[in-house]
Amino acid sequence: MLEQTATAKTQSAFTNNSNADMPEFEDMQFEKINQLALDHPGASDEKYRTRRDYIASLSKHFREDSEHKIVDVDYTPEEQRIWQIVATNLEKVQERRASKIYLEAKKKLGIRNERIPQLSEMSKRLGELSGFRLAPIEGLVETRAFLSWLAYRTMLCTQYIRHASRPEYTPEPDIVHEAIGHIPMFTNPDFADFSQFIGHGARIATNEQLEELGRLYWFTVEFGLVEEAGEIKAYGAGLLSSFGELENAFTDNVERRPFDLERVINTTYDYSDMQPVLYVISSYEYLKETTRKYIESF
Ligand SMILES: [Fe+2]
Repeated sequence: MLEQTATAKTQSAFTNNSNADMPEFEDMQFEKINQLALDHPGASDEKYRTRRDYIASLSKHFREDSEHKIVDVDYTPEEQRIWQIVATNLEKVQERRASKIYLEAKKKLGIRNERIPQLSEMSKRLGELSGFRLAPIEGLVETRAFLSWLAYRTMLCTQYIRHASRPEYTPEPDIVHEAIGHIPMFTNPDFADFSQFIGHGARIATNEQLEELGRLYWFTVEFGLVEEAGEIKAYGAGLLSSFGELENAFTDNVERRPFDLERVINTTYDYSDMQPVLYVISSYEYLKETTRKYIESF
């Protein structure tokens, strides 16, 4: 009961907030934000790069605009086609492998295979469901800045889409990774609170604790598994937005360990390869409470 009251308070405090209370973006560091990595499938496609950078500039506008208004992207038929291919293929695997909460959340947010959803509409709906919201960003951000935004119940999201030559792959976050991977899970109040605790932690963490938080984020938000009605399901965005990782997670190639926070924060990972070890939580509430205690120890 006490817990419910605390959660309700946290939520109402954030549900009614306006974008005017967003913190300053000045401290945010960007990692070569307007440059594509050389191994990106679109790196030598001049037309793709121009389009990607244009969409990134809309995200930049969000920071510079005093009202922090999300600018919708007028996606081209080609971009819609890439989305349709990836979304349709992923959905087939997700029906078998994704957490029930995730599958329901996609419907609640109106995420469909036919069209790319706009951050503005998903952010509005998230606000109603869990007091979470989205803020557009041009690309990868330095870890502390990125995680700290979760303290404001805000997820930074890219708006551009991957290159047409490799619909199944992107080395950087794109709208598929955000909308099909991350965004649905924030409809769940326990998961939203858990994410916010990570954000609180990132703001006060020592560099060593920040590394631990990065691992916690990796093995939960990106690659988390959950036990539901005796079955193991996926809720991590890196799994849900990748056919290869999602299928691989349930094979003998992967050691699926019961979630143990101490062990998780000490497990290193390699982001450039398939994950050999994953952690299974017993519930989102457990994840939230364990993380709360951990952050309170900072
Ligand atoms: Fe991600």
